[in-house]
Amino acid sequence: MHVVIVGSGIAGLTAAIRASARHDVTLVTKGGLADGATAAAQGGIAVALGADDTVALHEHDTHTAAVGSADARAVALLCADGPARVRDLLALGVPFDRTTDPDALDRHGDDLARGREAAHARWRVVHADGDATGAAVERTLVAALLRRHVTVLERTCLTDLVVRDGAVVGVDVRDLLGDPRRIDADAVVLASGGAGHLYRETTNPLVATGDGVAAAWRAGAVLADLEFVQFHPTRLAVPDGGLLSEAVRGEGAVLRDATGRRFMTAVHPDAELAPRDVVARGIAAAVRDQGGAPVLLDATGLGADRLVARFPGLTRATRAAGFDWTREGVPVAPAAHYAMGGIATDSEGRTSLPGLLAVGEAACTGVHGANRLASNSLLEGLVFGVRTADAIGAPRPARPRLRGDATLPVRTVPDDRVGDVADPRGASRPDGTGPDTTERRATGPDATPYRSDRERRPGGSAHPDRAAHLRQAVQTEMTERVGLLRDADGLAAARRALAALRPPVARSVRDHEDRALLDLARITALAAEARTESRGAHARTDHPETDPSAPVSVGWARAVATGRAPVDSTTRSDSTTPSDSTATVQQGVPA
Ligand code: SIN
Repeated sequence: MHVVIVGSGIAGLTAAIRASARHDVTLVTKGGLADGATAAAQGGIAVALGADDTVALHEHDTHTAAVGSADARAVALLCADGPARVRDLLALGVPFDRTTDPDALDRHGDDLARGREAAHARWRVVHADGDATGAAVERTLVAALLRRHVTVLERTCLTDLVVRDGAVVGVDVRDLLGDPRRIDADAVVLASGGAGHLYRETTNPLVATGDGVAAAWRAGAVLADLEFVQFHPTRLAVPDGGLLSEAVRGEGAVLRDATGRRFMTAVHPDAELAPRDVVARGIAAAVRDQGGAPVLLDATGLGADRLVARFPGLTRATRAAGFDWTREGVPVAPAAHYAMGGIATDSEGRTSLPGLLAVGEAACTGVHGANRLASNSLLEGLVFGVRTADAIGAPRPARPRLRGDATLPVRTVPDDRVGDVADPRGASRPDGTGPDTTERRATGPDATPYRSDRERRPGGSAHPDRAAHLRQAVQTEMTERVGLLRDADGLAAARRALAALRPPVARSVRDHEDRALLDLARITALAAEARTESRGAHARTDHPETDPSAPVSVGWARAVATGRAPVDSTTRSDSTTPSDSTATVQQGVPA
C-alpha cells in the first residue's frame, strides 16, 4: 500500500519507520524534519520502567491529572506498552542520561536518570542531554528513518485531504513556493501536531498551526475535546520567551509572588507539583492579585552546580534573556502548550473516515482526558505511532471506537454555524477533484529554520498585511476569551468575532496556516461554549464546578461535508453511514 504520513515529530517518525517495513511510505512535513514540537521537548518521557514503579501507578497518575476524563483503554495501552517502546529507543541509540547516585540505582534497579514532574507519584521521566530530550529522540528517529526506504518531502504543507466516495484517498499539498500538487494514497496518517499558534503566547514551534486537524475537519472527520487546551505554567515571560520545563519544579524550584511568598502552597497540597491546569490557574490568579506583574520561578535552591548541569539549555536560554537563574528568580507566565483534543480516533489511530488515521497531538484517543499528565506526550507518539502503523492495511471495524467510546456523542454543525469554511481556491473538494497528481520527489533534510512568513515567493502571502491582521485577530480572540479562564459572554463574543473574520484566499503556505487556525478557532470556541461546566483545562468562571452529568467527551463534525444529520442533532460515532445517524441526544449547538 502507498501510505502518506503527514508530520515528522515522534508520532510521525515512529509510524513511518514501523510502516516502512510493510508499505511504500511517503512522509510529508511542512518545515524541515526536525522543526516540530518533538525536537523542542524538554522534560522527557514518562515511563514505568523502574523497580519502584508500576504500570498501574502510572495509569493512576494519568487518570488523576486527567480528572477522571481519560479513556481507560487508551491509558492502559499507553502505560503498558510504554516500557517496550522506550526500550526500542534505547536500542536505536537514544542517549538517555544515566546516574551514579546510589539511592537512585537502588530505587530504580537500573542506571537511567529519572526526573519528576507535576502529578507523578514517582521519579519516572527519563531524559537526555539534561533538558534536550526531544532533540535527542528526534535526531535518533530521523537517522533511523533515513536508513529506511521512505520518500521524504520537506517544506511541503498539507492543504487538504482528498475525499472520494466518503474515503480519504490522498492529500493536496503545497511547497513553500506555493505550488500545489496531489499525492494519491491508500491510507493517510495525520501526525501533524497541535495548534499552539491559536494563542498569542505559546511554547509551540512556528509550524504548530493545526493544518492536519483543520484539514480533517474540512473533510468531515469527527473531532473531539477541542475545548481542552493545556496551558503550560512556566513560559519565560519575556518577548519570545520559551518553555521552562516542569522538570525544574520537579527538581525543587518553587514559584513566588512579587513579595517573595510561595503562593502555590495555599492553592493545592502538591503546591508547584499540582496538575498543570491547577498551577497555571494559580499563577494567573497571583498575577491578577499583584496587578499584572509576573510571578517568579525560583530555582536558586537547587544550587548553581546542580542547576547548570541538569538544565544546560535552559541555563543558556535564561542567560540570553538577561537572567542569572542560579542567583535570582525568573519571570514566568502560562502559555498555550498542548491540545488534548484533536481528530477522534480509536486506539489504533482509525478515524471516522475510512482511509484516514491520526496519531500524536493531532489525534484524540482520549488518553489525556481533560488535562494531560506531564511527559506523557512523547510516550503517546511512540505507543500509538506503532499501533497506528500496524493498523494500516488491517481490516477496518465497521464501527471504530472513537476516543475509546462507541457512544461518543457527535454534534454535526453546518458551516454557517461556524463561519465560512468553504474550500478556497486550489483546495480539494469532497468529490475528489482538485489539483493534478504530480510526481513525488525526494528531498534531503534541510537545515533552514521554518518560517512560513518568509516564503521564497516574494511577499509570501498574497496579502501579507491582511494575513498578519487575521492571525493577530484570531490570537486575540482565543487568548482573551477562549484561554485559561472562560465565561459565556466572552465565548459568545469570540464566536461572533471569529465568524466575522474572512478566511484568506489560500495561495501561499501562510494563507493555508491562517485558514487552518481560523477553522480551529471557530470550532474550539463552539466546543468551549457548549461545555457549561469546568473540567481539567477547561475552566469556566461562570460554571466553576464539574457537572457529573455532562458528557466526558463530545465529538464535532461538519454536516455539509458528511451529509450527516442536520443542525442541532447528535449522532453516534458508531454510525456506519450518514443515513443511519440516529439523532439520540438533542444537545443543541449554541446559536
Ligand atoms: C516540560 O518539560 O515541562 C514539558 C513536558 C510536557 O509537556 O510533557
